[in-house]
Amino acid sequence: MYSIGSILKNIRENIGLNLQEVQQLSKIDITQLSRIENGKRLPTSEQLKKLSEIYNYDYKKLLVHRESDKIINSVEYPEIAEETLKVAETKLKYGQKYLSLFQNEIYQAPIPIESRRYIGSKAKLADWIMNIIDNETNNIKTFVDLFAGTGIIANKALNKYNKVIINDILYSNNVIYKGFFQHGIWDMNKLQDILLYYNGINPDKLTDNFFSENYGGKFFNYNVSKHIGYIREDIEEMKDKLTEKEYNILLATLIYNIDKLANTVGHFDAYIKKPINEQKLYMRLIDAKNFNNVEIYRKDANLLARSIKADIVYIDPPYNSRQYSRFYHLYETLIKWDKPQLYGVALKPKPDNMSLYCTTKARDVFEDLIANLQTQYIAVSYNNTYNSKSNSSENKIKLEEIENILKKCGETKVFECTHRFFNTGKTEFKNHKEFLFITKVHEKRKNISFPSLLRW
Ligand SMILES: C[S@@+](CC[C@H](N)C(=O)[O-])C[C@H]1O[C@@H](n2cnc3c(N)ncnc32)[C@H](O)[C@@H]1O
Repeated sequence: MYSIGSILKNIRENIGLNLQEVQQLSKIDITQLSRIENGKRLPTSEQLKKLSEIYNYDYKKLLVHRESDKIINSVEYPEIAEETLKVAETKLKYGQKYLSLFQNEIYQAPIPIESRRYIGSKAKLADWIMNIIDNETNNIKTFVDLFAGTGIIANKALNKYNKVIINDILYSNNVIYKGFFQHGIWDMNKLQDILLYYNGINPDKLTDNFFSENYGGKFFNYNVSKHIGYIREDIEEMKDKLTEKEYNILLATLIYNIDKLANTVGHFDAYIKKPINEQKLYMRLIDAKNFNNVEIYRKDANLLARSIKADIVYIDPPYNSRQYSRFYHLYETLIKWDKPQLYGVALKPKPDNMSLYCTTKARDVFEDLIANLQTQYIAVSYNNTYNSKSNSSENKIKLEEIENILKKCGETKVFECTHRFFNTGKTEFKNHKEFLFITKVHEKRKNISFPSLLRW
């Protein structure tokens, strides 16, 4: 290789000096000189300085050769050496600016559906749940995720079963399902261009808007709030130039990208009362897919249950008094974009979409739901937050109540899994357990729907 050693030897021979003469002039030991020329060691900067003077050769050029030898010697994988050097060159050139310049390249991967903070998300339990369902059921064609939340369970089901029905009462969840799953047309280049425009905006130059006036400096840093409000308004103004799928992808993309920046512990019941670090909103597209086998609803589960037929219905309702429409009010307001009057420290709108599952009627509503399902199997998730000391975390339905209701309907098995409770960090549920009931519905019970036990 054309290393510093062979370059020094070449120069020395060119000017007609032998090693002994160089030793005398430089006072560098002859064996060291020889090892340097043979590439067995690199010259120190001091040695190079002396040799450059004796050889009357540019010191900086010699240094550059020596430094490049060092880089080459440190390369562990020769097959990617060239590419590595190019990247190192760019990093040197752009210094601190490197990250922002190459953000596009770095963050190209689309955001997966799991990448969201959501109370009660079954992200960590999804495989456990799906495996049990798989083992305990036969001939499943239509799968229903009736309280779908993040849509993580539905996502698994979509890749497995012929037809999947997804439902949740929240507007923000509905938009997410449509963005990720709904069949529709979208132009990737058009969406990338829109995001490029959004990512290039300097929030300092934006004026105040509904979002920043209300949430700025609270749920998000003030500049990020201006940016979010501007983007939301722009999506609405562009609506007639977007397909339905494009509109939903952009809204879901907005939720997923701001979720990481929210100054909260994972929901919007409160914000963290500490100064918010400087932040920048960078929008990356969600991993949108096009499924032919999906039906998406935003209905009360008990009403929807009366109008659908399925092979299995997966049920994961809220079990305590904490309403999801209140926990995620900010996303609801962002998606509805009706700019309502907001109240209280947490800036919530007037109550909407309140779930009976979070009230003392929970047991009766659950019974009504089970009675009206037209399905072969029922799968119910349940967790034992019941022993909690905090009233709002106390379960509205007891484990035994669920079991008794399900047993009336068919042969029921209970599966149990221990996993760390996902909460705000204030209350520790050390013995948190997650249960999954699987009920094989009695033959005579199938396909019969019951009049409502409740007044809707
Ligand atoms: C425990 S979470 C579901 C979590 C979900 N399995 C996941 O993995 O993300 C309960 C969900 O039920 C929804 N919900 C509450 N009451 C409902 C009702 N009456 N009808 C439909 N959805 C309801 C809430 O909006 C919330 O998203």
